[in-house]
Amino acid sequence: MLVKRLFAFKGTLSNASIQHRLKYLITAALVALAFYLAILNRQWAHLDKVFRFEPSHNPPLPPVPTSNHPIYKLAENAQVQFKQLLGKRSVSLEQAASRYRERRGRHPPPGFDKWFSAAQKSDAIIVEDFFDRIYHDINPFWALEPARLRRMIKDEQHYIRVRDGKAWFISDHLELRQPWVQRWTELVQEMMPNLPDLDMVLNVMDETRVLVPWEDITKYATEERRQRNIFHPSEAVAEYTKYQDEHSDKDEPAIKVEWIGNELHKYWDHYRVTCPPDTPGHNASSLETLERPPSYPTQPLPFTKDGFIQNFTASTDPCLQPHIRGMHGTFIESVSMSTTHSLFPIFGGSVGILTAGTGRRKKNELVWRGVASGGRHKAENWWGFQRLRFIQMMNGTTVSLLEAGEDVAPTFRLSELGEYQTEAQRNNSLGKWISSISDAAFVRFECFPQQEDKLCSYLAPYMELRDSIHMKEQYNYKFLPDIDGNSYSGRFRAFMRSTSLVLKSTIYAEWHDDRLTPWVHFVPFDNSFIDIYAILEYYLAHDAEAHRIAEEGREWSEKVMRREDMKLYVWRLLLEYARVMDPAREKLAFVEDLKG
Ligand SMILES: *[C@@H]1O[C@H](CO)[C@@H](O)[C@H](O)[C@H]1NC(C)=O
Ligand SMILES: *[C@@H]1O[C@H](CO)[C@@H](O)[C@H](O)[C@H]1NC(C)=O
Ligand SMILES: *[C@@H]1O[C@H](CO)[C@@H](O)[C@H](O)[C@H]1NC(C)=O
Ligand SMILES: *[C@@H]1O[C@H](CO)[C@@H](O)[C@H](O)[C@H]1NC(C)=O
Repeated sequence: MLVKRLFAFKGTLSNASIQHRLKYLITAALVALAFYLAILNRQWAHLDKVFRFEPSHNPPLPPVPTSNHPIYKLAENAQVQFKQLLGKRSVSLEQAASRYRERRGRHPPPGFDKWFSAAQKSDAIIVEDFFDRIYHDINPFWALEPARLRRMIKDEQHYIRVRDGKAWFISDHLELRQPWVQRWTELVQEMMPNLPDLDMVLNVMDETRVLVPWEDITKYATEERRQRNIFHPSEAVAEYTKYQDEHSDKDEPAIKVEWIGNELHKYWDHYRVTCPPDTPGHNASSLETLERPPSYPTQPLPFTKDGFIQNFTASTDPCLQPHIRGMHGTFIESVSMSTTHSLFPIFGGSVGILTAGTGRRKKNELVWRGVASGGRHKAENWWGFQRLRFIQMMNGTTVSLLEAGEDVAPTFRLSELGEYQTEAQRNNSLGKWISSISDAAFVRFECFPQQEDKLCSYLAPYMELRDSIHMKEQYNYKFLPDIDGNSYSGRFRAFMRSTSLVLKSTIYAEWHDDRLTPWVHFVPFDNSFIDIYAILEYYLAHDAEAHRIAEEGREWSEKVMRREDMKLYVWRLLLEYARVMDPAREKLAFVEDLKG
């Protein structure tokens, strides 16, 4: 209900080598479009009109003193990586097309030139790597026949249709015309008349997931690679097939996708088949009983360096951290579940609004307000949910009681923080310290079963509701943590523009992942939150570094995460989608740049 998304394939399809392990979690959307969301909380409702953008007259950033701390080193390395990425910017159509061929092993799709000129007009920064996710998501479909793909979506009831340069939304159910569907439609309409005919199936369910087993996705990836071909320009076809020219559409029966029903708590077992056999997730079955508090990993996680996240992409991968099955609502009990193990083209996402922050002085504190979402929590399972864990960990009273030996925190273990010992913890005053730097609370519980007073009896001894805090007010705090709800959190893009330091942990992928560099633009933290106190302690003590990330994050997001950038991303995605669905797809290509 929070954010719609059709599929988010998780994992990597390496461009360099097929041996690279593959894994796709396709979460509720073909595209992991982190269109973010207006309907999240009450405080979001006010933001519609605040499309404000203050000209930045940046004072020079204070110099960052060197240090031996692991966080300092991670951030310095990340700076180097980011500079390398910037060097790959394409400034001409020829350059963009040639980088495309190099990275994708095909010619660009027809319409690439119009796309590129729109990108130039809106001053978009075009780096081919920024679009990697599209290929991660689209490539497997090259392994299925276009006729078959078309038959798979034939009986779907909610879709955006493009014909002859016009786009509109079709649905049998008026009640399904939610605002995010409207925004999707408007976004596609803005690309007209530059898109070919297509039908784009929208996911109207909450958490639809396409979980393709690792063996299948590996097979598809091999097949896709086999088909890659940069053929002679004279063979290229520049026009997509019109839908009415495609008779098989009418004659052939639809192919039904098999959806797996309601085993709400067995989701992990469906998920782990997507994990490569050599990852710990593959062999870990669903938990029979939910441990209280949850189990933590016993060894350093492979994506960390000296305890902190080094590879953020890998840190979002549940296959590498099977303990997450007891620490994330998605794997404990989803709000709704509708899963298939077949590859199926379906889109989702909510387009939201933007607001800008100002560079005022920040309170040296963390703030978080939100809903206790993340799945269906109830008396028997609530302590496994990530947001509930976060709220308890950020509650100084709770932590003080815990330090005094009381059994007040079923959601986490202090003893697991051994290697992250903060000074406050060594002093046995962690709780007091947290009270002084944190203001985190729920504005709504969403109990199950629903309770009259909306206060969950099972949560009452541990937490209470607080009033929401307007987003603009939140920007006055130094730290803005971002934590998954039912799907990815919808507020990340707004946070990035706030000039506060954004902290992020997630298991979901989003459209802008390839554009941001962790430790340069935001600070990643582990999904168990085991590192959060140490991170807060570090950035409270290293203000110049916190400031640098907050400023660079804001500046960069204003360049590459704008609505225009989202539109260009979707535009390019739809060109690829139209091509892979086209019966003549093998020769569909943009080659004008080669015809000099
Ligand atoms: C998972 O189990 C299979 C079969 O029992 C075994 O061959 C494989 O090595 C195991 N993988 C891991 C990562 O433990
Ligand atoms: C980070 O992890 C991803 C996914 O596991 C992997 O493909 C990538 O190569 C890793 N990056 C580095 C720099 O190791
Ligand atoms: C820890 O204790 C020392 C000595 O009493 C004190 O100076 C310091 O401020 C304390 N630190 C924290 C974070 O409480
Ligand atoms: C913090 O913890 C205390 C004790 O567990 C609890 O009574 C209080 O409601 C919690 N505060 C919030 C904001 O949840």
